[in-house]
Amino acid sequence: MAGSGPVSSPDPIAQLLVSFREESARGVSSRAEFEALKGRYLGREKGLVPALFLGVRELPPEERAGYGARANAAKREIEEGIARLGETLARAESERRERTAAVDVTLPGRRTRAGSLHPVTLVRRRIEEIFLRMGYSIADGPEIESDFHNFEALNFPPEHPARDAQDTLFLDRKAESPLLLRTHTSPVQIREMRKRGAPLKIIAPGRVYRNESVDATHQPVFHQVEALVVDKEISMADLKGTVEAFFGALFGAGTRVRIIPTFFPFVEPGADVQMGCLFCNGAGCRTCKGSGWMEIAGAGEVHPAVLRACGIDPEEWSGFAFGLGLDRVAMMLYEFPDLRLLFEGDERFLSQLAPLS
Ligand code: PHE
Repeated sequence: MAGSGPVSSPDPIAQLLVSFREESARGVSSRAEFEALKGRYLGREKGLVPALFLGVRELPPEERAGYGARANAAKREIEEGIARLGETLARAESERRERTAAVDVTLPGRRTRAGSLHPVTLVRRRIEEIFLRMGYSIADGPEIESDFHNFEALNFPPEHPARDAQDTLFLDRKAESPLLLRTHTSPVQIREMRKRGAPLKIIAPGRVYRNESVDATHQPVFHQVEALVVDKEISMADLKGTVEAFFGALFGAGTRVRIIPTFFPFVEPGADVQMGCLFCNGAGCRTCKGSGWMEIAGAGEVHPAVLRACGIDPEEWSGFAFGLGLDRVAMMLYEFPDLRLLFEGDERFLSQLAPLS
């Protein structure tokens, strides 16, 4: 044998290459396995490849160059082999990531629960539609009102008991016109008449407040709709025809309506609008207290003093107004017995109530 070392000791470079080729042909199945292999061959301290170079000094000088060149070639082959193994591993890893992160379009979808409109909103919208068809426009007013708009301009005398803290929630009693939470939507009558004059045909839906204790039919916050028409020669006959048309559209044709005299400071004559009881059809039941009729709205001809307070001449113009509670209408249309259900926000109750057609 020419050249390198005794015949009995096998060539360490060739041996190392044989075992590396075997191992790299098997491949690696994990990053940990790859790092272990790489460390075993190329590790700076104990790596098999650096170890090849340690013995070079002990060789006879004439063999050193040949050995060194072969060791360098082996080192290059092993480094390249390990780099290829690393690339293969990285590709496999990223394929696995893509597979596990991919959207499986065959899975059944997750249902998102849609919200529903509040019954009071449904009723308000339905009422707005009816009035819009009749040529009314929709007006809005502030929930924080002045005593002037809520009471004084509506012809409540200065010491009227409705101002009493029993009913009215005052915010600032000492102001020149005390500030309060409006107790009805009638102050929007005043604001619209003062702003736009006559003729006028509006409704004003909104939230109102009273200092009530809560029970099945009372809430400190509830909702009303006000209707106001001001024009030439408007009479109680127009009022009656309008409430009949309106309640017929809301509760169904054939709904009976009657008008009973009563008193509100801002109308003259004043009236209660009553409707044939929906629950017993007029026969008399607990809900209508045996009378066959239910009070559904306050109404009347606009008081001349109210027109005057708004700069409208009562000799030239007249009008009617009526106001009703939205929450009570919701109770009647959806036939539930307790007003509190509307304000508790229990989704199990609210989502049962489908839009009214
Ligand atoms: N504002 C009155 C109330 O809240 C209802 C009403 C409105 C009466 C319009 C007459 C005319 O009770």
